[in-house]
Amino acid sequence: MKELCLPRRLKVGAGSFYKVGEVAKELHASHLFIVCGSLLMREPFLSQFKGMLSRQGLTADFFSGIKGEPTTEELNEALKQLKQSGADCIVAVGGGSVIDLAKALSVMGLVEEATLDSIPGMRVLERLPLIAVPTTAGTGSEASRVTVITERESQVKKNPGHEGMVPDAAILDPVLTVSLPKHVTAYTGLDALAHAMEAYVSRKATPLSDHFALEAVRLIGKWLPEAYENGEDLEAREMMLLGSYYAGVAFSNASTNLAHAAARPLGARFHIPHGLSVALLMPYVIEFGLEAAAERYADIGHMLGGNQEQSLKKAEYVLERVREFNDRFNILQEGSAYIPDGEAFINVMPTLIQNAMSGNGILTNKTVPDERDIERIYLQLLTSLKEEWRMSGIQK
Ligand SMILES: NC(=O)c1ccc[n+]([C@@H]2O[C@H](COP(=O)([O-])OP(=O)(O)OC[C@H]3O[C@@H](n4cnc5c(N)ncnc54)[C@H](O)[C@@H]3O)[C@@H](O)[C@H]2O)c1
Ligand SMILES: [Zn+2]
Repeated sequence: MKELCLPRRLKVGAGSFYKVGEVAKELHASHLFIVCGSLLMREPFLSQFKGMLSRQGLTADFFSGIKGEPTTEELNEALKQLKQSGADCIVAVGGGSVIDLAKALSVMGLVEEATLDSIPGMRVLERLPLIAVPTTAGTGSEASRVTVITERESQVKKNPGHEGMVPDAAILDPVLTVSLPKHVTAYTGLDALAHAMEAYVSRKATPLSDHFALEAVRLIGKWLPEAYENGEDLEAREMMLLGSYYAGVAFSNASTNLAHAAARPLGARFHIPHGLSVALLMPYVIEFGLEAAAERYADIGHMLGGNQEQSLKKAEYVLERVREFNDRFNILQEGSAYIPDGEAFINVMPTLIQNAMSGNGILTNKTVPDERDIERIYLQLLTSLKEEWRMSGIQK
């Protein structure tokens, strides 16, 4: 049997953001706890949003205390404020960081004994109603069963998943993503592309997840360059939101793979933004898996516009396009700034490898990697980083 799990309500389009109140009322909410990034705190959004809530007869408390990618410390603070607020519905308006914190909060706000470790094993997951409004495109967290939160003490990125954590509603409003800086557009867009590609080559892929994965690849391949060059293009922004939502549906049901497994510890150790850490590793991960999943990569190549006859050529075209995106968006140059030097990288490699092996996204690869494979991939990245440092005249 195959199945697919996704949010029950989806609204898409410029201005759809102001439907939050209507959707909340459909979920029988009266007092909202709004978890948000700094964007919602800016005008004209804040006044318009508050006006909309009061017209709907809704009250709200706001929590905007997330500094970067979310930590257990911030989650505990949000939990404290949620309890004081007594809200009956959680609304997340922000990037993946904000949505992830809101997802965990929606569970822990209702089930006191729930922890990040216990969530996956819960038979039925009860939580407060949850509406997700992404302002990046993106993590696809608005469509996924996963929340990613860094545990403060261990600095490990935990990523528990549960079908019950898929938000009740997702609202995709391109107006909210116009203000994204170029580099965030690139990192988050490449993250979404990686979700779609990894879901499509996953051992857990089904015809249901394939449908979303391939359409996501097509949309992102076509619209990411336009959203990057011309951030005010609402059509490009909307297509990117749709692409990242579809990619979220795909990976949430079929899993991400090696690029995410290896990027999680790398990102956590050197504080590299999630999408950037994934994009840095993607070329080497594709190279590693290309032959074993040649037919699948050929389909991806086709969606990216590859018109070669031979399927292996189409598969190789994926690698070419991914390298081209990385060059165009300065991925290696920007990533290299987060890593102090080659020695620091080598010193943490055993821990990175161990964490990558013990996280999600290892067993779902067509060729299941071992420690040596992951070591080789990190070393390939290090070679490119050294070349980048040399070219920019940086002594590291
Ligand atoms: N739950 C999932 O399914 C899932 C999937 C992939 C990644 N993640 C996690 O999501 C987090 C990353 O989320 P992200 O990539 O969306 O980045 P983010 O939420 O961390 O945002 C990146 C930066 O952009 C800013 N920003 C967000 N929206 C903006 C806007 N419209 N205009 C201007 N600035 C804006 C934020 O304030 C922040 O500084 C990581 O912790 C990652 O591990 C979760
Ligand atoms: Zn990702």
